[in-house]
Amino acid sequence: MPKLITIKNPKSPISEAYRGIRTSIQFSDLDKEMKVITVTSSKQNEGKTTVITNLATTFANLDKKVLVIDGDLRNPGVHRMFGISNLHGLTDVLVDNTTFVDCVNCTDTKNLHVLTCGVVPPNPSEMLASQRMKEFIDNLKDNYDYIFIDAPPIGIVTDAGVISSYSDGCILVIGANETDIETAKLAKERLDSVGAKIIGTVLNKFAVKTNGHDYYAYYYQGRKSKKANRKMNKKEKSMA
Ligand SMILES: Nc1ncnc2c1ncn2[C@@H]1O[C@H](COP(=O)(O)OP(=O)(O)OP(=O)(O)O)[C@@H](O)[C@H]1O
Ligand SMILES: [Mg+2]
Repeated sequence: MPKLITIKNPKSPISEAYRGIRTSIQFSDLDKEMKVITVTSSKQNEGKTTVITNLATTFANLDKKVLVIDGDLRNPGVHRMFGISNLHGLTDVLVDNTTFVDCVNCTDTKNLHVLTCGVVPPNPSEMLASQRMKEFIDNLKDNYDYIFIDAPPIGIVTDAGVISSYSDGCILVIGANETDIETAKLAKERLDSVGAKIIGTVLNKFAVKTNGHDYYAYYYQGRKSKKANRKMNKKEKSMA
């Protein structure tokens, strides 16, 4: 059974928050195609896998063809979110143990496919940086509207930076009680230093009080596109 709230309870406020993040991403850069999106955080446990899998589900609900790939080859978790097996996946495809068609998983959500990690390899960074991987992602672009790639924490290993090099955008998840501002800033600097395009940050796991009850929430802060900024400037000038 999937653990995703956007599947189990699509009408909940949390699912609504994910739809808000989806809208922000759709408007994040009108000048550039946003097809391959990755996620990272500064440390472990901030909510990367939770965010990327739920987000992918909300995009599939728009009738878009969506693929989620588990690119966290060190600590894969996407298969658990969907309640599916991780017997074969990305690493098996890359070493020719099997084909993509044979190990991609369909889900109960229409248009949502999942490629799990597969066998955890001894050389994750090399695999992710290989020409084979880049070509694999490139070929998938013809078959999907969106490809979401889960990645390990950038504050700990460089893999997310490598994945960012063939992604159109990267989301930085910040776990409210998991990390501090300096560590989060360092993660941003690391992504900037490899030229990753950060399309927004998700502040995750912060407690919101409603009617005396706490619930954990998400907050997305996106970057405005140049086009959106120009539009805004024009509007401001015409109002002056
Ligand atoms: N908004 C939230 N509210 C409450 N719990 C959350 C929230 N987001 C994630 N979690 C929980 O936090 C834990 C870590 O989440 P998740 O596995 O998505 O993080 P991660 O960043 O992918 O971790 P890792 O670095 O180990 O891959 C899980 O138990 C998940 O259910
Ligand atoms: Mg994870």
